[in-house]
Amino acid sequence: MKQRFVQSLGYVGLASPNIDPWKRFAQDMLGMEVSTTPNGSIALKMDEKSHRYLIEPGSKSDLQFIGFDVGESSHLNQLQQHLTEAGIEVHKASPQDKATKKVNDLIWVKDPDGVRIDFYLGLQEAATPFNPIKTIGGFVTGELGMGHVVRYTPNYKDMSDFYQRILGFKLSDFHDQPYAIEFLRTNPRHHSIGLIDDKGPPRLHHTMVEYRYWDDVGRAYDLAQLNPSGIAVTLGRHLNDHMTSFYVWTPDDFFIELGWAGRRIDDSTWTVEELSSPSLWGHIRNWQTAEKRLQTKKLIEEMGHKGIRAPVAAYDEEAFVFTPSTRKN
Ligand SMILES: [Fe+2]
Repeated sequence: MKQRFVQSLGYVGLASPNIDPWKRFAQDMLGMEVSTTPNGSIALKMDEKSHRYLIEPGSKSDLQFIGFDVGESSHLNQLQQHLTEAGIEVHKASPQDKATKKVNDLIWVKDPDGVRIDFYLGLQEAATPFNPIKTIGGFVTGELGMGHVVRYTPNYKDMSDFYQRILGFKLSDFHDQPYAIEFLRTNPRHHSIGLIDDKGPPRLHHTMVEYRYWDDVGRAYDLAQLNPSGIAVTLGRHLNDHMTSFYVWTPDDFFIELGWAGRRIDDSTWTVEELSSPSLWGHIRNWQTAEKRLQTKKLIEEMGHKGIRAPVAAYDEEAFVFTPSTRKN
């Protein structure tokens, strides 16, 4: 059996020319807690950890790094040896780097797209509890990680090989037409990484954050509708991870998916399938050309014609308590 070298997606690092819009977007739309560092970078908190996003000022929007939690120090040593044996150059982080990332230990490599991938131990807890300005019930993180990252890659085969064969991610599902896409997991979250085969330069398609409470997603959707052009994908539900979600444009050139109740995978019963549609309903892709949008809409409508439905599995008991109505008519 393949060894799983990373436990979860821990943090994402970006460069952006739009730091101030990011502060407002993260606070007001997403409900994250924002802190500014002395060098002008911002750290976005989603839970008890010191950060889940680090965004530094830059002349252009760029994915700077992705951080994976390896769990234990023995895993970090094993991974270092494994990567070296695979012919991948492994770098040890400088003390300053570790201090910036607020981790106990850190090695990093470049993936086939040239993006820096951090493997860390011990992401620090913040000095104060999670306390966003917007009143929300928090995000699903912990062992499932902070969400997922989906990337366009011109090195699709090599990237797939890197994440699956080298790092031990498992394929959850995929499709090959009208373009190739793979969803890869490293824990019960359906996917922590998604790869889209694309001819252009490597870039982010979207990141996803999962809310504990459906009502928080609904309220964010209310807010998003005040600026309809900011909605990249309308409210809908994915066929593969059952995430009910919508996507908004970030201040940069990619989206964030605001999701709820993604399903968890049990390895012992899961079988890999080729996906026949991206979504069960909704999810109109405003960002696509009219022609592409219609193609996708037809696939999604077909799910309805076939009567395909999926149960809702909200894993946080507090977030999904059924209260029988006491009203008598
Ligand atoms: Fe997603």
